[in-house]
Amino acid sequence: MQKKTLVSLVGARPQFVKEALVNAAARKAAYWRHVLVHSGQHYDIAMSDVFFQELGIPAPDHHLGIGSGSHAEMTAAALVAVEKVLAREKPEALLVYGDTNTTLAGALAAAKLHIPIIHVEAGIRQEPRTMPEEINRVVTDRLSQVFCCCSALAVDNLAREGIIAGVHMTGDVMYDQFLRLQASLTPMETCRRYGLDPEGYIVVTLHRDFNVDSPESLEGLLRGLGESAQSCGLAVLFPIHPRTSKRVEEFALAHLLRPFTIVPPLGYTDLMSLTAGAAFVVTDSGGLQKEAYYAGKRALVVMPDTGWRELTESGWNILVPPEAQALAEAARRILQPAPHAPHLYGQGDAALQIVEAIRKELFS
Ligand code: UD1
Repeated sequence: MQKKTLVSLVGARPQFVKEALVNAAARKAAYWRHVLVHSGQHYDIAMSDVFFQELGIPAPDHHLGIGSGSHAEMTAAALVAVEKVLAREKPEALLVYGDTNTTLAGALAAAKLHIPIIHVEAGIRQEPRTMPEEINRVVTDRLSQVFCCCSALAVDNLAREGIIAGVHMTGDVMYDQFLRLQASLTPMETCRRYGLDPEGYIVVTLHRDFNVDSPESLEGLLRGLGESAQSCGLAVLFPIHPRTSKRVEEFALAHLLRPFTIVPPLGYTDLMSLTAGAAFVVTDSGGLQKEAYYAGKRALVVMPDTGWRELTESGWNILVPPEAQALAEAARRILQPAPHAPHLYGQGDAALQIVEAIRKELFS
């Protein structure tokens, strides 16, 4: 008898990191035929291919090539393309990750075809509600049947919205990935390769629309980083996202990048090695704020709120607005020691837990 099929949909950087281990665990367990679909939302080599090679993810069975565009253009293109794949593959279920436009489109396409949806990283909630990623999460959770949560807080968030059935506290698959590769990280050697002194630099990543699409915010952030680096005696390593790089040109702010080490987006191992070797991290990435914690480093999170409140409420990470003075002041505070609460996001076996949750809910 032919095995039942599950379609797993990815499209943007953090989803590749998550799919790597879920894909391996699913293939090993072999409860279903695991069909991988790449929407093509991220398409540059540095934003996509590098992760497939480095993390040993099999080539996608379907590549939809949607590319960039406005939110509506991306979502609409993915919606049409995913529907075609689902019609062809006739899966028992669709697996989606996180909060991207690819995730939303996948959930909408599957829901209309009555295909059950599994949402990995379900239950994360973050202000403002108007943030594109928050809209994507809330709608995806509304349409899903199986909810794989990274934290106890995510489980509570779903319960507050009346979602109780199908909810599993699996832990964060990015923690699994970090633990898997931890022994092979080479902070000293990687720092040297980038011309940096261990513990002598700040790792910076910025890509959110509310930070980089406004000239005032972007300028405030770049000035604040320069001031922080100078007052703390640190260098700045800034792997720059294509969106941010375009805005820096557009707003004529390139002169503010001059004191920094600017590099293209990094692969997983280099970014984790450089995070492990840094003094601290400044980021608006949902993934990196947790990965810094896994690497024992604190992060200034440039967001009005975070889905990972365990880390800000425990005082490990600090929320900061995109303003020069606030950033420079927070940089001094983050250099102080803070208590490190272990295991906030599971035990490092999330991929296995996710596969078992799916089997229990949909394939038994
Ligand atoms: C998306 C996700 C966000 C996630 C982030 C990780 C949405 C709504 N947001 O944001 O949740 O944290 O990915 O990186 O889905 N671009 C390139 N090359 C690429 C990809 C993008 O040049 O390979 C450029 C595009 O032209 C566009 C910009 O980057 O101007 C934004 O890309 P997009 O996929 O819209 O959003 P992200 O900011 O990457």
